[in-house]
Amino acid sequence: MIIGVPKEIKNNENRVALTPAGAKELVKRGHEVYVQHTAGEGSGFSDEEYVAAGAQILPTIEETYAIAEMIMKVKEPIEPEYSLIKEDQLLFTYFHFASYEPLTKAMVESKSVCLAYETVEKSDRSLPLLIPMSEVAGRMAVQKGANYLEKPLKGRGILLGGVPGVLPAKVLILGGGIVGTQAAWMAAGLGADVTIMDVSLQRMRYLEDVMPANVNTMMSNEYNIRHMIKDADLIVGAVLIPGAKAPHLITRDMLKEMKPGTVLVDVAVDQGGCIETCKPTTHENPTFIIDDVVHYCVANMPGAVPYTSTLALTNATLPYAIQLADKGWKQACIDSDELKLGLNVIQGEIVYKAVADAFDMPYALVDKYLMD
Ligand SMILES: NC(=O)c1ccc[n+]([C@@H]2O[C@H](COP(=O)([O-])OP(=O)(O)OC[C@H]3O[C@@H](n4cnc5c(N)ncnc54)[C@H](O)[C@@H]3O)[C@@H](O)[C@H]2O)c1
Repeated sequence: MIIGVPKEIKNNENRVALTPAGAKELVKRGHEVYVQHTAGEGSGFSDEEYVAAGAQILPTIEETYAIAEMIMKVKEPIEPEYSLIKEDQLLFTYFHFASYEPLTKAMVESKSVCLAYETVEKSDRSLPLLIPMSEVAGRMAVQKGANYLEKPLKGRGILLGGVPGVLPAKVLILGGGIVGTQAAWMAAGLGADVTIMDVSLQRMRYLEDVMPANVNTMMSNEYNIRHMIKDADLIVGAVLIPGAKAPHLITRDMLKEMKPGTVLVDVAVDQGGCIETCKPTTHENPTFIIDDVVHYCVANMPGAVPYTSTLALTNATLPYAIQLADKGWKQACIDSDELKLGLNVIQGEIVYKAVADAFDMPYALVDKYLMD
């Protein structure tokens, strides 16, 4: 198969969909890989490394789209890319269709085949191509939180791990899923006194088993949250209710109960945030202060560490990309229910119900395309 890897053009997006190591795997299997000039630069991969791996470099985005049967990307196509997409071309990337109608309409009109990273789903309902970014964001949440707790950045001026003779900081994590677990590991590793709150007893039993002694769990409810925020130095919001807006576990009035200089990192901001006062911020302007409480609410945290994020993402996407390249999308989706669930748009029809429902658009059963 002919695979094209364009350079991401979305503002501040430095990730790339394929590493030189991934290119080598695909080339070894007899596929042709075309990478747009400097596509890997933001993640630390030079054109020369791709060439050494057997890929070829194309000077422009137009040529990369024009030659490819499968386009591998990171972010959803943006407006200038719409017209480059060809009929029957396979696009393997994040789309998040339900949040943006113009993209959905453009992809339907393009008659391409859109396989979305975010809806590839395993039989245990986990989302293997979203997990890596949650892992990055969870670990980063504590790194950022530790930083903003410093006085010059308007934090309390407390070191997460304390020092001999001085108590460590208290870290409160709301939600013990992927983000929360990774945040807990990092905070615990730095010596903080960590509490994870969740509503799932099963999850908390698991966390108690695997976490070190400086991590405790507590049932998440308003009463307990009100009690815990009074003492917390760093609060990480990591709640997710699949398919729904995040619940506001910390409301505006609760800020008054917190110590001045407390830092809130609301990782769940991309789902509306679990802290009422959080509004999406950017890496250029990541924080704001309300009632002396520092809010960090960057919606694309992994974007700041493109090297790690690219490797984490491509470790997860490559096995699927290999199946798609080896078998073609149709056979690959017949053979793999995980990939089949990734199909969102096929040749002018929406085949993922939640996307069609989001915009009241027509919907076709995916099996129609996998049977002929
Ligand atoms: N800002 C970013 O850059 C970024 C990056 C990656 C992920 N995220 C977001 O982070 C959030 C968490 O993702 P995840 O992968 O950890 O999800 P997850 O499904 O693995 O974990 C969510 C956890 O929240 C718990 N939960 C649900 N209701 C709760 C409540 N009322 N109180 C406490 N816990 C509750 C669930 O039981 C679950 O354990 C999502 O909104 C995700 O989109 C943001």
